[in-house]
Amino acid sequence: MDKILIEGQKPLSGSVMISGAKNAVLPIMTAALMAEGKSALTRVPDLRDTRTMIRLMKIVGATCSFKDGRLEINASTVNNPEAPYDLVKTMRASFYVLGPLLARFGVVKVSLPGGCAWGPRPVDFHLKGLEKLGAKITLESGYIIAEAKRLKGADISFEFPSVGATGNIAMAAVTAEGTTIIENAAREPEIVQLCEYLNAMGGCIGGIGTTRLTIDGVDELHPADIDVIPDRIETGTFLIAGALSGEITLNGVNPQHLDAVLLKLKEAGCNVSTTSNSITIAPAETIQAVDMTTAVYPGFPTDLQAQWVALMSLAKGSSMITDTVYHDRFSHVPELNRFGANIKVDNNTAFVRGVDELVGAPVMSTDIRASASLIVAGLAAKGITEVSRVYHIDRGYEQIEEKFRSLGANIWRENPNA
Ligand code: UD1
Repeated sequence: MDKILIEGQKPLSGSVMISGAKNAVLPIMTAALMAEGKSALTRVPDLRDTRTMIRLMKIVGATCSFKDGRLEINASTVNNPEAPYDLVKTMRASFYVLGPLLARFGVVKVSLPGGCAWGPRPVDFHLKGLEKLGAKITLESGYIIAEAKRLKGADISFEFPSVGATGNIAMAAVTAEGTTIIENAAREPEIVQLCEYLNAMGGCIGGIGTTRLTIDGVDELHPADIDVIPDRIETGTFLIAGALSGEITLNGVNPQHLDAVLLKLKEAGCNVSTTSNSITIAPAETIQAVDMTTAVYPGFPTDLQAQWVALMSLAKGSSMITDTVYHDRFSHVPELNRFGANIKVDNNTAFVRGVDELVGAPVMSTDIRASASLIVAGLAAKGITEVSRVYHIDRGYEQIEEKFRSLGANIWRENPNA
C-alpha cells in the first residue's frame, strides 16, 4: 500500500490551481442519470471517489468517458437502478443515486450505508423525505428498496440541514407531480450548484441558496452541461498549509465560499488577501490560538476541522475546537499527538494546547480530511513524516504531492511492495 513521505519545514511559496469540488461533482453525476442523452461535466477532479462514482454509473447502465477533467455521461442506456454494497461501503455518496433513479424508474435498490470512521451517519432524513413524497420504502438483506410510480410533491422539513438529504430529496422532487417545499434545507455551495444544474436540465427550483427550497415538479428533464465549482475544502486545506509553512496563492477559487475560514485565519494572525478568483495567504509571525466551532454553511466547515486542529497545535496558547456537525470526528487527534501535539478530546470538543514544534512521525490516515491534517502537520514538522493508508487522501485530493511539490515542499509517494 502506498505511503506519503514528507521532509518537513521546507518553506512553501508560489501558486497552485485548485481542482473542481468533489462534493459538487458526485451528486451532479447522479443527477445526470435522470435525463436520456449526453451530459458533459467539466473541471471534474480525477479522484478515487470520482472513479468510484463512474463505476457506479456504469453498473446502472450509463456510458461514461472521462479525460482531462471532462466527463461525458450518456444516460440513455441506464437500465439497472441498483447500487451494490461493495460500492456504497467504500463511498457513502453512492447513496445519491437513490432519489434520481427512483424518480426515473419508479423503483431503486441501494445498499444501506454502514457506519464510518466518524460515527453512525444515519440516512433517516433521506428515507423519511422520500416517504413523504409517496415512496414505499422497505429494507431487504441490507438494501433499501424504494418504490413509487410517480412521486408526489410534499412539504418536508429536515430536523437538521443535511447536505445529502437535501440533494437526494431535491433530485427526487424535481420530476414529482406538484410542488415540494424543503424547509431547513442545506445551502452549501455544492447543493446550490446541484440545484442550478437541475434547473439547467429543465427543473424548476426556487429559493436556491436559502434554507427553503420550492420545487415545482416538471414532467421531464433534458441533459445539460456544467463546469464544476472549485473545491473549497481543498482550498481551505492549502490555506492552512500556507498559514504554517509559507506565502502561497491559490488560483481558480471562489473566496466567498470560504468567508468563515478566512475570518478565522485572520484572527489567527495570518495575512490574507483575495481577488475575485484567488486567495493569497502569508503566515503569521506567531499563530494565535483561536477557538472554532464547525457549523453548516456559511459556518466553518466540518471538513476543515481536522486541518484547523493541526494549525492550532502550533499556535501560541490554548484553543477549543468543537464539531457540531459530527460528534465523534476526531480520529486525527491521536495521530497528531504522535507529532508531539498536545490535544485532548472531550465529547465533541478538542482542547489544543499549542506547542513550539512538531516532530515528524509515522502516522496513519483514517479518513479523507484526517489525512489532510496529517499532511499539513507533516509539512510543518521537523524531520520525516510517513503517512500510511493514503488511499483515504486519494479519495478527495487530486495530485496532492505534485501540488505541494510545486510549492517547494519535499513530499513524495512510495509503494513498499513495488
Ligand atoms: C456531506 C459531505 C461531507 C461533509 C458533510 C457535512 C458529500 C459527499 N459529503 O456529507 O464531506 O462532512 O456533508 O458538511 O457531500 N444526518 C442524520 N440523518 C440523515 C442525514 C444526516 O442524522 O439522514 C446527520 C449526520 O449524522 C450528521 C449531520 O446530519 O451529523 C450532517 O450530515 P450531512 O449533512 O447529511 O452529511 P453528508 O451529506 O453525509
